[in-house]
Amino acid sequence: MKTIETERCILRAFLKEDAEALFAMDADPEVHKYLGNQPVKEIAEVIDDIKSVQNQYQHNGIGRWIILEKSSRNFIGWGGLKYETGLRDNFSYYDLGYRLDRNYWGKGFATETAKASLEYGFTQLGLKDIYAAAHSENKGSINVLKKSGLKFVESFPYDNFIAHWFHISSEEWEKAS
Ligand SMILES: CC(C)(COP(=O)(O)OP(=O)(O)OC[C@H]1O[C@@H](n2cnc3c(N)ncnc32)[C@H](O)[C@@H]1OP(=O)(O)O)[C@@H](O)C(=O)NCCC(=O)NCCS
Repeated sequence: MKTIETERCILRAFLKEDAEALFAMDADPEVHKYLGNQPVKEIAEVIDDIKSVQNQYQHNGIGRWIILEKSSRNFIGWGGLKYETGLRDNFSYYDLGYRLDRNYWGKGFATETAKASLEYGFTQLGLKDIYAAAHSENKGSINVLKKSGLKFVESFPYDNFIAHWFHISSEEWEKAS
């Protein structure tokens, strides 16, 4: 996985050294409020997540990045693209996603890194389409998607909630860039 930079962030591959910071983020119930899953309880769970993302780099040529603050090298969270095969029925796609430690919410980091992820997907990977899904009540996430140029497509039931489905094509992205 290539490392990329934005104005304030470094986006690099998941490493096993990220376990502690990932655990601190993922043990926070507020972080999981709209994710349809439970906060983690054991560090082993995030160690499995790190291995799973590293596996995706190998098999799909892409996976989420760890986001570090450039000025301090502090852990902000993760974000970027994932080749998603299990979310929508019979449909595999490149998914834009992000999850930040609560200390870094509300500072524009999700939008800044989401925009860089789209640029990477369209210019470096040559993707034609990028999609994203968010809990219909996750205002923060939906705002990030809209500010990054994705458009609402439809709602769909997922687990026990309604999710919103978003899309942007390479043509739309080029026009807006
Ligand atoms: C959702 C999340 C990624 C947003 O990250 P962030 O860095 O705070 O987002 P940004 O600062 O880029 O905000 C983008 C816009 O949304 C707004 N926003 C952010 N959080 C918001 C909230 N909870 N409610 C309403 N608006 C919100 C911001 O004000 C900003 O709009 P503005 O520029 O017009 O002020 C972050 O809250 C998070 O990690 N949540 C937990 C995990 C999660 O839900 N991931 C998404 C799963 S689909």
